[in-house]
Amino acid sequence: MNSKRDSFSGKIGFVFAAAGSAVGLGNLWRFPYLAAKYGGGIFILVYLLLAVTFGFTLMLTEVAIGRKTGLSAVGAFRKLDRRFGFVGYLACIVPFIISPYYFVIGGWVIKYMIVFLTGNVSAAASDDYFTGFITQPVEPIVCFLFFAVLTAAVVMIGVQKGIEKASLVLMPLLVVLIIGICCFCLTRPGALAGVKYYLLPDFSHFSATTVLAAMGQLFYSMSLAMGIMITYGSYMKKDDDLRSSVRQIEVFDTLIAFLAGLMIVPSVFVFSGGSQEALSKGPSLMFITLPKVFEGMKFSSLIGGAFFILVLFAALTSAISLLETNVSIVCDKFSWGRKKATVIVSIYVLIVGSIVSLGFGPLDFIQIIGMGLLDFLDFISNSILMPIVAILTCVCIGFFVKPQVIYEEVERTRPFKEKKFYTVMLKWIAPVLLALILIFAVSEAMGWVRV
Ligand code: PHE
Repeated sequence: MNSKRDSFSGKIGFVFAAAGSAVGLGNLWRFPYLAAKYGGGIFILVYLLLAVTFGFTLMLTEVAIGRKTGLSAVGAFRKLDRRFGFVGYLACIVPFIISPYYFVIGGWVIKYMIVFLTGNVSAAASDDYFTGFITQPVEPIVCFLFFAVLTAAVVMIGVQKGIEKASLVLMPLLVVLIIGICCFCLTRPGALAGVKYYLLPDFSHFSATTVLAAMGQLFYSMSLAMGIMITYGSYMKKDDDLRSSVRQIEVFDTLIAFLAGLMIVPSVFVFSGGSQEALSKGPSLMFITLPKVFEGMKFSSLIGGAFFILVLFAALTSAISLLETNVSIVCDKFSWGRKKATVIVSIYVLIVGSIVSLGFGPLDFIQIIGMGLLDFLDFISNSILMPIVAILTCVCIGFFVKPQVIYEEVERTRPFKEKKFYTVMLKWIAPVLLALILIFAVSEAMGWVRV
């Protein structure tokens, strides 16, 4: 099986594709909103500290597992230790849960991009536009279909020609666009107050919630604990430097999130004078508050259009990684060809995604523990399964397989400088922090604690 496996053409290809997976809606939409809500600078500081410690440990472990075994999550864990085969299955469930709803949001992005590019800015900025759109039965599904077809086409073409090429073009474009919009936003009058809020840490805003929110975001943003980095690692060449690749992906992911915040938080200040209400708008920040921000700008159609093109690129490369992981699981499991697997997985995504989309309209009576369908799927995957998978990965490698396996994989090219630190993180600090996240998330969802 391994001999037939596609691979990336080299280190750059791997780094770009993995960064393409990591950089997505999480960076452009979730990070800025969390940073705004949890006190700006202090959130960023905590996030950065966690990224270089906790994020590095987990990502390095996953990529090394993938490259060592040459398999995606299910096969990989089984090969390392039979008793931990179930972790692979658990990890695999995650992208199957995320894909449908991530694609639905991808559809919304397409819709907003079209609306802006066709000059309907004031419509998009009106109060009920977003709700009016997502509650319709047909239009969101059409946009979702469009997004799904785009993604499936790339995955079907394969790793080198499809995923790698797409990321090589889309990632640099994204950086150029984001820097451009950032410069524009920062030169608006009133933006400076926003920059201050965003950059200067105010320690009075620090609390346990800041750490937990930053940690949850880290997972989501770096596509950890769902087999994605294992799959990508399995496509990585043996003589590429693992440690520096992981560092580069991390830096890139964090940089894009940081720039997205630098673009969005000051814009919200320009628009609202920094009212706490506007800043804590959360999930709707991108689709409701931001269009209002754009409306007030000159060239609003162009700026807004460029912004949503950027978001679409980022969402697309992440969606590709999600679908690719699903496809590779199915290929390994049933020994099907890539085309057949892609078609079957896409049909699954289309069916579940349509139901999720309808969950905002005709099916909005479906509520599970007080959440709509999309929120529920997001909760199950991000807040429950991902921490569990990550804890089990740490325990599996830390205590059963032993970290030596990871050292060897890293040391194929260069010495592993942070070996000691890595081991302590993997065996003790990461699992404990993860367990805390899990307990916190469940308590919050069940209404045991109020945040
Ligand atoms: N990491 C992606 C982001 O920041 C989200 C994602 C989650 C992508 C899960 C793939 C899988 O948006």
